[in-house]
Amino acid sequence: MATLDATSTVSADTNLLRFITCGSVDDGKSTLLGRLLYDAGMVPEDQLAALARDSRKLHAEAPEALDFALLTDGLDAERQQGITIDVAYRYFHTPRRSFIVADCPGHEQYTRNMATGASNAQLAVVLVDARKGLLPQTRRHSYICALMGIRQVVVAVNKMDLVDCREDVYAAIAHEYRELATQLGITRVHCLPVVAPGGDNVGQHSTRMPWYQGPTLLELLESADTAATQGEDFRMPVQWVNRPDASFRGYAGTVCGGRIAVGTEIVVQPAMRRARVERIVTADGDLTEAVAGQAVTLTLDREIDASRGDVIADAARPAPVADQFAAHVLWMGDEPLLPHRAYWLKIGSHTVNARVSSIKHKVDVNTQAELAARRLDLNEVGYCNLELDHAIAFESYEANRTLGGFILIDRTTNATVGCGMLDFALRRASNVHWQHTDLDKEVRSASKGQRARCLWFTGLSGAGKSTIANLVERRLHSLGYHTYMLDGDNLRHGLNKDLGFTAEARVENVRRVAEVANLMVDAGLIVLVCVISPFQSERRFARGLFDEGEFLEVFVDTTLEECERRDPKGLYRKARAGEIFNFTGIDSPYEAPEQAELHLLTAGLRAEQLAEQVVEQLLAGLGHTPL
Ligand code: ADX
Repeated sequence: MATLDATSTVSADTNLLRFITCGSVDDGKSTLLGRLLYDAGMVPEDQLAALARDSRKLHAEAPEALDFALLTDGLDAERQQGITIDVAYRYFHTPRRSFIVADCPGHEQYTRNMATGASNAQLAVVLVDARKGLLPQTRRHSYICALMGIRQVVVAVNKMDLVDCREDVYAAIAHEYRELATQLGITRVHCLPVVAPGGDNVGQHSTRMPWYQGPTLLELLESADTAATQGEDFRMPVQWVNRPDASFRGYAGTVCGGRIAVGTEIVVQPAMRRARVERIVTADGDLTEAVAGQAVTLTLDREIDASRGDVIADAARPAPVADQFAAHVLWMGDEPLLPHRAYWLKIGSHTVNARVSSIKHKVDVNTQAELAARRLDLNEVGYCNLELDHAIAFESYEANRTLGGFILIDRTTNATVGCGMLDFALRRASNVHWQHTDLDKEVRSASKGQRARCLWFTGLSGAGKSTIANLVERRLHSLGYHTYMLDGDNLRHGLNKDLGFTAEARVENVRRVAEVANLMVDAGLIVLVCVISPFQSERRFARGLFDEGEFLEVFVDTTLEECERRDPKGLYRKARAGEIFNFTGIDSPYEAPEQAELHLLTAGLRAEQLAEQVVEQLLAGLGHTPL
């Protein structure tokens, strides 16, 4: 998915059109694309000779006909071999314009590839087989294109020769598509009848369909609107701060909206620092003005603090700033998106921590029906509430693809796992403020004569977490420390009694426990948490809530065989008998810690010995200071 980049802007070059072709092999997509390249004069002599030779070999029945699909069938070959399919970009040009076409497979399991291809396209060519009319896949392709911000569509009704080139067949399909486009918010639709192999209405007007008087596909592509829909107001995300020596400080980036002139007052967001533009520097010399799509370095009339990720905007019309949003998310990860799990969110040149706080609904990509959902699986689209840990300057995706489009990144693997489109800011965040109190954690723990800590015991059910923690707590108590134990089973009787054991329920379970533990540490206590907490991601989240050295992860490492042998609550037996589901270690995963402060190998040791190890280490200064 390397081609999907939150920072890519739609080109401002009016001589370049980026488009995507939507359809499947059965619709004649490869043939149409091949024919387009041929009609644009992009197939050199030697390749043409090879094409003629291969076509003859494959089609003995029609030895003279060229099989244009052979020019573009690379993706199908990959598909048959089971190779991971990305998006194939092809470049071609005519005397009037250059083109970049994203060719992606059309099946539902490749929705993420299509989204990638559509994310920076200005137009989509949607193929419809004249014999079949609109299919669920036509709807899906159009929906994904609309979701990704494409507002111009060319509908190529193909295989017209197989319906005797009948105008009424074509007109009915065109009519039906226009209705679909209206529902999806696609404003500009141009339909045309084609016969891809014959080139009818591809590069030349068709003599077989004189009733169609409109432009050919190539003419439509040559005259399509390439103006970027990036809004009127000046916006530029700071890509980097250029500071070669003390005398020069420039902010480099690509203008992603409006225009900027020397002397204009700007504001650096989200901090809202004001200055005026002194120079607009480019590799080819200074400019007096720059517009969307141009890469420039701005210098300002005063020293202000701005760094990568900030947005420079017109001071008179700054971008809105928020940290909670309603947004569409298209999930690209093999592992599902789980609400409350933390991901990196990259928007413009900014990377922040983000989580989906709730999924309002998911969207059936074939019918656009809204369905209830607790998670999003690969290739699913959801409408979500999103929370960021920092406020950012943004625009709705509709208004500005750069400042409204984002990608989500898995914090462990660094893989891109989703892309999304901001819709609007949710007001809640700006109306709730942090209330400061005079007493703080240091004061509260000092009055107890200790340093507050969170001891986080993780491990399989039956590993001995609670037994060991209980002994540790008793020992600490006898030494005069103030403690509290948060036990997973006990919390599930109250605070977490609404939660079960699906992955998403566990994410929420662990999040709540971590937040409560954090409050207790803030109260100055030594907190002992005992939850399976099977996922690295949530343990990392928990760690992130605490100050350096405060969070100590204790991995109670007992083998599954041993836990199952002990089976103190009879749950392993039930899980094996299929009476309970999602049981950790049986049909739900446990991801062992990689960076636990304490790794307790329990084999052959009694709980008392293990507890003593923990206490000893604590008193000796596990974390950064002794208790
Ligand atoms: S966690 O995975 O969300 O961290 P937690 O520690 O709160 O789990 O609860 C685990 C306890 O619930 C286990 O010790 C066990 O007694 C009980 N339990 C019941 N069903 C399950 C299950 N499907 N998987 C794991 N534990 C279960």
